[in-house]
Amino acid sequence: MQITLNKKWLALGVAAALTTTATFVVAVEDAANKPMIAPKTMADALHLVMDSDRTVYTRKIVNRLAAKEKVITASEHFDDEKALVLPAQMFRFGAEMVAKRAEKLPDVNFSYSLQSLWPVNTQNAPKTDAEKAGLKFVAENKGKNFYTTEELGGTNYFTAIYADTAVAPVCVSCHNDHKDSPRRDFKLGDVMGGVVIRIPLES
Ligand code: HEC
Repeated sequence: MQITLNKKWLALGVAAALTTTATFVVAVEDAANKPMIAPKTMADALHLVMDSDRTVYTRKIVNRLAAKEKVITASEHFDDEKALVLPAQMFRFGAEMVAKRAEKLPDVNFSYSLQSLWPVNTQNAPKTDAEKAGLKFVAENKGKNFYTTEELGGTNYFTAIYADTAVAPVCVSCHNDHKDSPRRDFKLGDVMGGVVIRIPLES
């Protein structure tokens, strides 16, 4: 009798625990999928990660090892020259890998690029009106971001543009000395271009 009772209580306890766990899992899944992140918040968060990684790579790898310690160079032709990839290449390789991996994730849909009104590589010049206006805005209004919406190919997008700043002396020296650079008077702390993040909006 005693044993039966114990078993009964045990069974009840297990059932209760399972129900609680199941409810908890469902609640977490519900919360995780609830549409509560605004496109602007998502863009700001993505940019924070991108910009921090970019700054760390430039300061702790390129500026330290190439400019200061001179143990290795940084070059566009990094393979041939056994050099470090440029910060802009590091950024683009990441963006390309994100685009490729996101193909398999139907809910993950955004793109990003590094551009400038004074591009070393003309492919990095702004193309849409929003990109042109945004790059001009962030260059003229230091510390401010530019947010807008645009319609491209029948889809509405939220587009955010953030200043890309000369955070290390190598940013300035490399661009000012580069044979293809259309601008040669950059100084430390100047806005040299911008990061464009684009997120599709449901129509
Ligand atoms: C050793 C040289 C070098 C260094 C250091 C460097 N850049 Fe560049 N940067 C380039 C080259 C070359 C490109 C073009 C790359 C490409 O083909 O897309 C470029 C691209 C860019 C672009 C995109 C527009 C353009 O000019 O094509 C921006 C913006 C930019 N760099 C800003 C910076 C900033 C800010 C830093 C420092 C955090 C930096 N760069 C460090 C050489 C350099």
